[in-house]
Amino acid sequence: MTHTSFVPSPYLHSKNGGKVSWKAPSNIALVKYWGKKENQIPANPSISFTLDACATTTILTFTKLQKKNKEFSFDLFFEGKSKEDFKPKIIAFFTRIEKYLPFLKEYHFKIETENSFPHSSGIASSASGMAALGLCLMSVEKELNPEIDGIFFNQKASFLARLGSGSACRSIEGDVIQWGRHKEIEGSSDLHAIKYPFKIHPIFKNFHDTILLVDKGQKQVSSTVGHNLMHNHPFSEERFKQAHLNLSELQVVFTEGNLDRFIEIVEGEALTLHAMMMTSLPYFILMKPNTLKIIEKIWKFRKASSTHVCFTLDAGANVHVLYPENEKDVVFQFIKDELVVYCQEQQYICDRIGFGAKKL
Ligand code: DP6
Repeated sequence: MTHTSFVPSPYLHSKNGGKVSWKAPSNIALVKYWGKKENQIPANPSISFTLDACATTTILTFTKLQKKNKEFSFDLFFEGKSKEDFKPKIIAFFTRIEKYLPFLKEYHFKIETENSFPHSSGIASSASGMAALGLCLMSVEKELNPEIDGIFFNQKASFLARLGSGSACRSIEGDVIQWGRHKEIEGSSDLHAIKYPFKIHPIFKNFHDTILLVDKGQKQVSSTVGHNLMHNHPFSEERFKQAHLNLSELQVVFTEGNLDRFIEIVEGEALTLHAMMMTSLPYFILMKPNTLKIIEKIWKFRKASSTHVCFTLDAGANVHVLYPENEKDVVFQFIKDELVVYCQEQQYICDRIGFGAKKL
């Protein structure tokens, strides 16, 4: 499949207007996407757990214009309020995807969006937000071409979401999602994410992710700046190779249910992501002292309790604490007793692996 597969033939139906709505979840990468080429092509493959509680709901109302506009015509509301400062991001997104959705300048859109998590939680909403918008736009396209089937619908929604924000392409389906060409994963693509096609041991079903909000501030480094740091990075080639190897190994780990090796790969990926940021130019330290405190506590508790709690990090200071369903009581007690003190205003979000976006 190439990107031209997503350019539609002329639509056979027309529609004066309507309203569509989707709720799309966030996701947490186990093998990280860090580094990209032109047109949102990832420098290495990645894999994630789709989340459940952290999500964006978007309502898209569309009204046919008298004639095709020169510019994109839309209003944007975030949590009920008009949001001018989000508009440039939407314009950039629409510009990138216009070729694949030629109806974009024929309608006026009202985009109403809200997140399930607090705005100032330091949790990026670009993955769930772009996934929800991509899905809404696909629902519009489906009204113009009812022949689109479920598989293509999800594939193109993922393809569009990727053009909005790379990791968003992993937020369409659940529960384990892979994105980026990998030689051993049939059907894998740089253009869109797929449902992980291999066996997953039941121990990974219902995995928990408690997100500890260590720093609720704005991101210190935007993802665009962050990904660009991987150009001319002294360790980038080795890092990209390592991501491929980790994905190969995860196939065995997922099949066998090998939690010990899972932990090594996942924590190693999180620390490598931060190591890449510490060794780029300019360099950044995105962890906070409390991030390290939490990591130390997790390691100590894991050893003492013989549980399989582990952590992963995004490009920030917050910590995602991952653990299996059968250990949830003891681990959650530990989180409340020993980790919550390191969170800003003691805030955390209880999330778990989820099954993908829902049409409302
Ligand atoms: C560290 O998807 O936010 O979360 O494509 O520039 O929008 P853009 O980047 P983005 O990068 C996410 C990076 C990460 C790792 C991951 O989710 O794989």
